[in-house]
Amino acid sequence: MDWGMQNRFARIVKPADGRAVMLAVDHGYFLGPTSGLEEPRKTIEPLLPYADSIMLTRGVLRSSVDPAANVPIVLRVSGGTSILKELSNEEITVSIEDAVRLNVSAMALSIFVGSEFEKQTLVSLTRLVDEGVKYGIPVLAVTAVGKDMARDARYLGLACRIAAELGADLVKTYYCEEFESVVQSCPVPIIVAGGKKTPEKEALELAFNSVAGGAVGVDMGRNIFQSDSPVGMIRAVGAIVHDKASVEEAYRIYESAKGAKARRAAG
Ligand code: 5RP
Repeated sequence: MDWGMQNRFARIVKPADGRAVMLAVDHGYFLGPTSGLEEPRKTIEPLLPYADSIMLTRGVLRSSVDPAANVPIVLRVSGGTSILKELSNEEITVSIEDAVRLNVSAMALSIFVGSEFEKQTLVSLTRLVDEGVKYGIPVLAVTAVGKDMARDARYLGLACRIAAELGADLVKTYYCEEFESVVQSCPVPIIVAGGKKTPEKEALELAFNSVAGGAVGVDMGRNIFQSDSPVGMIRAVGAIVHDKASVEEAYRIYESAKGAKARRAAG
């Protein structure tokens, strides 16, 4: 990696501990106004102090994030589909010039291994890696899961390895049984997506198990912004990822932030 690439990568995965808390708020690019993200600025602003980086589209970045906030940006640069159609039919949606102009720290693109448009998304990844190398911008490959794909170690291991082989600098995938084998067979760092909203303790267990299994951290969205205490949840996740907190310790952080919020609301 050259200097610029290393410098940007260090803004995503913190060199002090090799860990990362990424806040995912890119869901609208195919889901529209997802629950919790109807007004992106309102959701995002209170969470920024606790996120190492934020993953989002350029539309939400420009409209809803203060440029002075100085949060490292992981820009989603793939899309072109909606929940109403075949999701794997994605292409690159942002030019490298605009990514540079927006001063992003990484670019993110989904690959759909085993899906109808598998080849298109994999070739897009290679094109993006070529551009990223040219300008010193790391690429995060998101192993999106097609409708009929099992989220197991065999399938996720396949998708992660292909992403790494094609040049991704960081791979986002899901936690699964035998997750360690997915990490071991992927020669670049792995970050784990939160997935659908679950009870807070389960989401914290997922974060704990992910880092224990070798992930550099989590790229969590719905389990943070759909929580009854988004700030409590991101602080709790941060404690697990960076401070070696147990699930119980992290859960207490969430509960105490939730309690403080309730007391403020009660006046
Ligand atoms: C969608 C994404 C999301 O960023 C990813 O799924 C993380 O969010 P969540 O924790 O809500 O699953 O890449 O394709």
